[in-house]
Amino acid sequence: MRLRHRERIQLKTPEEIDRMRVAGLVVARTLQVVREAVRPGISTRELDEVAAATIRSEGAVPSFLGYRGYPATICTSVNEVVVHGIPSEECVLKNGDIVAIDCGAIVDGWHGDAALTVGVGAIDPADQALLDHCREALWAGIAQATAGNRLTDISHAVESSVRESGDYGIIQEYTGHGIGTAMHMDPLVPNYGPAGRGPLLRVGMTLAIEPMITRGTRLNTELADGWTVVTADGSRSAHFEHTIAITPDGPRVLTAAKDEENRYTERIVAPAQSHPSSPVPPPGQASDAR
Ligand code: MF3
Ligand code: CO
Repeated sequence: MRLRHRERIQLKTPEEIDRMRVAGLVVARTLQVVREAVRPGISTRELDEVAAATIRSEGAVPSFLGYRGYPATICTSVNEVVVHGIPSEECVLKNGDIVAIDCGAIVDGWHGDAALTVGVGAIDPADQALLDHCREALWAGIAQATAGNRLTDISHAVESSVRESGDYGIIQEYTGHGIGTAMHMDPLVPNYGPAGRGPLLRVGMTLAIEPMITRGTRLNTELADGWTVVTADGSRSAHFEHTIAITPDGPRVLTAAKDEENRYTERIVAPAQSHPSSPVPPPGQASDAR
């Protein structure tokens, strides 16, 4: 039984994981450029153009464009849109909106996939809490992505983090996924459920972990465009995602910006309480050279 799982999940060598990191860094930089472009008055179509230009300038290929007919480079999911919002000239961001930006890129055949949600101008503190709690749940899941754990240890950690944070809906119909030479590979990575189930996590597995949570119901529907997913009750929704690799040293966040990876290394990979006062290494100096 265990072998069957094992055979279906693609394992990468350390060199292949380094190549996925190259793709992941393109995604990280693209998300950074797009989030800096977010402001009241900009359309999500313009954000898509910013993303396309950035990915191209890095010599990479966008993975979403043309995927099952998807018509854009990124997904831009505004307010009650949960995922797969299609960038549009008519969708102009305004003060107080929240927008999830989801981006995927391919370099030399290797994929990176990540998402984040940001506020437009000044946002409702409850929306800010939604964003913060979704991001925290992602990192709680990442912390469980270690060899010897089972797949749903990640799922359970995400759910537990969300439940501790507040009364949020956790989307069940859309999940994280294996990733590597394709964007979507085995296994599915749910954001809820009991711990200790599913395949054993092994060094060389790479996963996209991506919680989607709402301020109301977990129920959702897909619009007639065949892509846009909205909450059934109109409540606002957030989405954060990283592509990670399971390494002998713990999870490596392949789509983190360099400073974010340092923070992660300090917070989770280093043994707890070992050197509480040791300084964080400056960007570029830490685990990136692994
Ligand atoms: N991160 C999203 C996912 O894993 C990206 C898919 S959007 C698509 O489902 F347009 F490419 F389908
Ligand atoms: Co994904």
